[in-house]
Amino acid sequence: MSRAAPKSFHVKSFGCQMNVYDGARMGELLASEGMAEADADSADLIVLNTCHIREKAAEKIYSDIGRIVKRADTAGRGKPMIAVAGCVAQAEGAEISKRAKAVDIVVGPQAYHNLPGLVRAATAGGRALDTDMPALSKFESLPRRRKQGPTAFLTVQEGCDKFCTYCVVPYTRGAEISRPWHALIDEAKALIDNGAVEISLLGQNVNAWADGGRGLHDLIEALAALPGLARIRYTTSHPNDMADGLIAAHRDIDKLMPFLHLPVQAGSDRILKAMNRGHDVAGYLRLIDRVRAARPDIAVSGDYIVGFPGESDADFEDTLAVVRAIGHAQAFSFKYSPRPGTPAATMGDPVAPEVADERLQRLQALLAEQQMAFNRATIGKRCEVLIERTGKRPGQMLGKSPWLQSVLIDGGAIGDLVTVEITAAGPLSMNGQVRTPAFV
Ligand code: SAH
Ligand code: SF4
Ligand code: F3S
Repeated sequence: MSRAAPKSFHVKSFGCQMNVYDGARMGELLASEGMAEADADSADLIVLNTCHIREKAAEKIYSDIGRIVKRADTAGRGKPMIAVAGCVAQAEGAEISKRAKAVDIVVGPQAYHNLPGLVRAATAGGRALDTDMPALSKFESLPRRRKQGPTAFLTVQEGCDKFCTYCVVPYTRGAEISRPWHALIDEAKALIDNGAVEISLLGQNVNAWADGGRGLHDLIEALAALPGLARIRYTTSHPNDMADGLIAAHRDIDKLMPFLHLPVQAGSDRILKAMNRGHDVAGYLRLIDRVRAARPDIAVSGDYIVGFPGESDADFEDTLAVVRAIGHAQAFSFKYSPRPGTPAATMGDPVAPEVADERLQRLQALLAEQQMAFNRATIGKRCEVLIERTGKRPGQMLGKSPWLQSVLIDGGAIGDLVTVEITAAGPLSMNGQVRTPAFV
């Protein structure tokens, strides 16, 4: 049975920054088809851009679908068209169609450029599914970037060939691909034309980006030469792709912000081996030393997994020891979640949930302490803050320091880069006062 074509859309993204990027591009695509952006309560088409990385992330989607249907019922309007996009769509496309009848469209992360056609198919009354993984073709057929805020994401590399034994990304995003140099320079220029002052380069292994002998540092250097762009960031990196040139870029390129997200995952070589990380603890720590030699004030972030199969008390103590050795400005930590189809899911020797919980709490307490210490150490520093949005109080603005701290200041406008003196530190945000820079 056919239905009215949707006139408005709402995209909700879960998961990593790449999903946020994909969500923005889906929005631009639907807008270019003449649809208007609307809020979740009134949109004719709702795109749930899902994440599969941990169990909770995937489960959320079913409760979300239930909520959308119920809300439409209560409001006495027809159920909106529902599209499930992202990594859950890729991993469980058929399963979603079976389990959630309300879903009209399932579209994977490499196929969302086909969304308009899928919407037409669903409008004609069918259920539409596309989880093909053609390398790069989505980027070639998406519309030009549109107006947005002062900070923008730019996917430069996608997919992963590392196959860490716990991780679904190589399956949901496919093999590692690098987007071509010229496409990236063009997209960066379009973002700057539309108001971007900062660009964050994204990739599952962003530092594996390569094109014709050029590496990520070459791309960063070229972007740094673009007028109008003040800041460059990149995430997420893998230790084995941390090239000398990229480390040197942290010393040589002012626009490259002093922040590095470089996950080590665990502090025990035995566990790193079982995770198939391809590096050991000593090698990781040597890398951090070299990066700090190049850029002494760099803020180091990371990811940790606790409760991986076979992780002993001693292994976990090794993780705490590595965290102490590094001294993070911030870091993410997760309880291991077995993912269907990954090698670790069938490894046996699971860690009891209450043990994993306790380890996570201890790790998070240590990381919170380190974050507070890092934040305190920036009190009194002068730095540039890029204003991203308004704060809670009238006149208050919120921006980011070079070290990616949230800084609350009075005055300035969204998109301004202001010189600020950091005056106070909290666990999650800083206070600052705008200062006139001496060189003006
Ligand atoms: N490509 C990036 C990010 C991968 S996903 C990288 O390699 O760093 C982000 C983080 O989620 C990972 O770094 C890891 O810490 C965590 N993660 C991935 N799979 C997980 C799982 N099965 N259980 C718990 N945490 C997981
Ligand atoms: Fe997952 Fe490992 Fe690839 Fe990161 S490097 S995306 S953790 S498989
Ligand atoms: Fe999640 Fe897929 Fe990103 S699984 S973390 S949305 S790559």
